[in-house]
Amino acid sequence: MTNRLTIAIQKSGRLSKESMALLNACGVKFSINEARLIAHSTSHPIDLLRVRDDDIPGLVMDGVVDLGLVGENVLEEARLERIASDTAAVFQPLRALEFGQCRLSIAVPRELSYQSQADLDGMRIATTYPQLLKRYLKDNGINARVVMLTGSVEVAPRAGLADAICDLVSTGATLEANGLVEKEVIFRSQAQLIQNSETLSDEKQAMIDQLLPRIDGVQMAKE
Ligand code: PRP
Ligand code: ZN
Ligand code: MG
Repeated sequence: MTNRLTIAIQKSGRLSKESMALLNACGVKFSINEARLIAHSTSHPIDLLRVRDDDIPGLVMDGVVDLGLVGENVLEEARLERIASDTAAVFQPLRALEFGQCRLSIAVPRELSYQSQADLDGMRIATTYPQLLKRYLKDNGINARVVMLTGSVEVAPRAGLADAICDLVSTGATLEANGLVEKEVIFRSQAQLIQNSETLSDEKQAMIDQLLPRIDGVQMAKE
């Protein structure tokens, strides 16, 4: 067992730059080789594992890595998915971070008349977040069909695959460009730092204890 602390971060996407910037601001130095999955810190016994954001919750919950920087949207979807399949879904939330803000929303084509939530009844809704969408539909007594897509959700209505979509919105540019209008916000998200729920070695725990106040300091300075 290595005593290097492993942290999973998103390889490329909305959280990548700010995840690395946060670690850098905390004094954790490393250089990224784009072709490599793992980046070794040159200042601390820390390894960064650069993966798809969707893989981060599982890697942390299964103890493959010690820490993960991930969006709450991806985290909650993975947690619900594990609960649905009777798999242990435990982790320790360490810090909510001040980046990666977005919302998971239901949007419909501009030309569709939409008065209220009840209009979703009978619709096919395309999403990459089936668990979060199903929970929302159930909580609100809506009978809709969930169409699971791993990407290009915003083109599903035009392609005739769905009547509405449920996807992440940050600036709204993607919806706008695809003739869609945001109607219901079902989940609000930001980045989170999470830890595996097992007890770590003293060395690793000491490193986390040193890292957390630095993160707090960086976040405080941003305010
Ligand atoms: C999300 C979403 C939209 C886009 C919305 O994808 O799927 O494509 O961001 O952002 P906007 O409102 O600013 O246009 P993203 O690439 O962040 O996530 P993913 O890579 O996990 O699909
Ligand atoms: Zn993703
Ligand atoms: Mg996308």
